Amino acid sequence: MPIIDASMPEFSRDSLNYLTYFAEHLVQFNRDSPVTFKRPIVINGKAAIKAGERFDAGAVSIVCADDTPVDYLDAIALARPLSTELILADFTALIDDDPAIAEFAGKYGDLPELKRCIAQVASMSGLMLQLTVLKQQLPAVYQQALLCAWLGATLMGLLKRGASDVLNIFIAAISHDIGLLHVPMGFVNSDRSFNYRQLRVLRAHSVVGFYVLKRVASLPDEVLRAVAEHHENLDGTGYPAGKVGNTISRLGQCLIFLDAINAIYTKRLKPGKRPLRDLIPMIQMNGHSRFGVLGKKCIEWLKVLPASPVRAVPNILMPLLIEAVRQRNTYIGGCVDVIDQLAKDVGFRHGDQRVFALQNSIIHINISITQSGIINSAYMRWLEQVETEALEHAYREVEDVFLMMQEVIYHIGKLHHQIEIFLSTPCDSDEAFKLKKGLERLERIHQPKIPPHLKVLWIANVK
Ligand SMILES: [Fe+2]
Repeated sequence: MPIIDASMPEFSRDSLNYLTYFAEHLVQFNRDSPVTFKRPIVINGKAAIKAGERFDAGAVSIVCADDTPVDYLDAIALARPLSTELILADFTALIDDDPAIAEFAGKYGDLPELKRCIAQVASMSGLMLQLTVLKQQLPAVYQQALLCAWLGATLMGLLKRGASDVLNIFIAAISHDIGLLHVPMGFVNSDRSFNYRQLRVLRAHSVVGFYVLKRVASLPDEVLRAVAEHHENLDGTGYPAGKVGNTISRLGQCLIFLDAINAIYTKRLKPGKRPLRDLIPMIQMNGHSRFGVLGKKCIEWLKVLPASPVRAVPNILMPLLIEAVRQRNTYIGGCVDVIDQLAKDVGFRHGDQRVFALQNSIIHINISITQSGIINSAYMRWLEQVETEALEHAYREVEDVFLMMQEVIYHIGKLHHQIEIFLSTPCDSDEAFKLKKGLERLERIHQPKIPPHLKVLWIANVK
């Protein structure tokens, strides 16, 4: 199965066009800390740029003058690249500044192993250049890469894997989003919705990262492959290749898990200072179709940590949260009726890979609801009792249920977007017609809003 769509010439194997986007980052970086040419850039037999010159707008106008930029990647150097000490300081801050991470590290962390991994990364100058620019230009992406790398190395240690497995997941995790430096700057961290073409360019970052890392560092093939696969999903709903199950490498599956855990923790738990233990219901919901064995093991390790009594909603506002949970239950139920019918209408005799991916998303939503164990009518009856009798001991669980429902609604939103993307390419098949009708029915279901009194609370703003 190809790892990149051959119809994307700007990101094909031999293309250098990604260097145009990286050049924009380097010019900005150079304003704060020198980026210089360590050897001349020779064009038509003449030194167009001399050794020692800065990577500024003038240099870009030379190296990116033609449709295909000059290959400058091996010719540049940073005055102050990251070092072993600086990366260790960043990991120390990541752990010490976040009580949830500190708690997990206190129980399971292995500092000597972490230092060994950092020293290995620091010995690869090409990779260090990329990470240094990433830290400056996309600091949130760098922080997420650190969290994934730390968690990956820690989990591999808990699984009693050998030193090379620990190192491989550490390197893959810390470098997996390097490709984001090599796609258009305006596409990264943007809240705007993209059209099909723009989305394909942004989604190319996993494969662009693969090519860049292959060039700048001598990394094992399995590390490179894991980077290329980090947005695939076990159920075939990922990208760019829509791989399924064990066609995704073992290391790739591990990286996908880390990236997902990082996203759930950063979006849903960290704003409320919740511990990592609160990941358990989220992992359970997504586990069956997305996380595999590592998810199950992770739950075992998280269960050993103490449960947190921290609440997000004061008692006086609990009736509002309970009503919000009820409304979400109704909304999810309405959406599930529509998408189940849609899956049945489309059937499984069409042979279209992209439609199969959409149907897998529907299956994933259904399984996550079943796995949650609480998005059902029995729980709604229990909720009635919690409200009538003001059962304070159940309030925290209601908060968890709200968060789980937001997770399901997020997946419904993703499915909605996937169908829109599918329909944005010309297609007059029977399946496309049914999907269009299904999307219209989905859009007619009213998505509940947050009551104004809850809006000031972090939990109400979790998307
Ligand atoms: Fe990514």
